[in-house]
Amino acid sequence: MILETKDIKKTYGNRLNRTEVLKGIDMSIEKGEFVSIMGASGSGKTTLLNVLSSIDRVTSGHIIIEGQDITGLKDKKLANFRKNDLGFIFQEYNLLNTLTVKENILLPLSIRNMKKPEVEKQFELVASELGIYDLQDKYPDAISGGQMQRTSAARAFIHQPKIIFADEPTGALDSKAASNLLGKLQTLNELSNSTIMMVTHDATAASYSGRVIFLKDGLVYSTLRRGESSQEDFYKEIMNTQSVLGGVGVES
Ligand SMILES: Nc1ncnc2c1ncn2[C@@H]1O[C@H](COP(=O)(O)OP(=O)(O)O)[C@@H](O)[C@H]1O
Ligand SMILES: [Mg+2]
Repeated sequence: MILETKDIKKTYGNRLNRTEVLKGIDMSIEKGEFVSIMGASGSGKTTLLNVLSSIDRVTSGHIIIEGQDITGLKDKKLANFRKNDLGFIFQEYNLLNTLTVKENILLPLSIRNMKKPEVEKQFELVASELGIYDLQDKYPDAISGGQMQRTSAARAFIHQPKIIFADEPTGALDSKAASNLLGKLQTLNELSNSTIMMVTHDATAASYSGRVIFLKDGLVYSTLRRGESSQEDFYKEIMNTQSVLGGVGVES
C-alpha cells in the first residue's frame, strides 16, 4: 500500500460559517495504481487531492504515505516531501514561460541529487514517451496546449516521484489532445509502475484509469474497478454510476 487515509475530514470557515467538505474519507491506494476521483462540482475533489498531496492540511484524520503519517509533519518537512516525493499536473499547466520545454521538465531535479547522465537518460525516456522530445528547445508560447500539458506531465514524472497528483489535467484540452495525454499517462503508469491519482469530472478521462472513486456529500459514495473490462465497457459503467450519483456536470 502506498497511500492510506483514515477518517479524514476537512472543514472550511469559522465557527459561525462552517463548510464541512470532507466528512470522513477512508481509502487505500496500492503502488502502481492509476486512480480517478470523480464527483459533482463542489463535492470536494480538489479539496481531497490537496490534502492528500499536502498542499493543504486536514482538519482531522490521518494520511499515511509509504508508512509515514504526513499529517504530523512540520511545514518545512512537508515542503521537502512534496518536492522530492510527489509530482503534480494541474489544469493550467503551470509552466514557466521564460524556460524551454526541457528546462521546465528538469526543474524538479534541481532539488535532487541525480547525476547528469542519469538526468539525461530519464529526460529522454519521459520526453520521448510523452511525444515532446523534439520540442525540447521550444518555449511554452510556441507549442500547443496539448504539448504544454504533456510537458507538465513530463515534469511530474522526471524525478520518479512516489505519487503523481493530477487535478483535471485535461480540463483545458480538446478531446483529441485529452485522449493523447491520457493514453500517455496510462502507458507511463504501466511502464514505470508509478502511482497516479487524478481528479476529473469527465467519464472518458476516468475510463483510462484502473479504478474510480466517487465522492458524494463528503464521503466515498462508491468505487469502480476496471478489472478485465474493455475501456469502452468501463466507460459505460462509469456513466451509469454517474447518473445514479446525479449532479455531475460541467465544472465551473
Ligand atoms: N479555501 C476555501 N475556503 C472555503 N471554502 C472552500 C475553499 N475551497 C473549497 N471550498 C468549498 O468546498 C467545497 C468543495 O470544493 P472543491 O474541493 O473545490 O470541489 P470540486 O473540486 O469537487 O469541485 C465547495 O463548496 C467550495 O466552495
Ligand atoms: Mg476541483
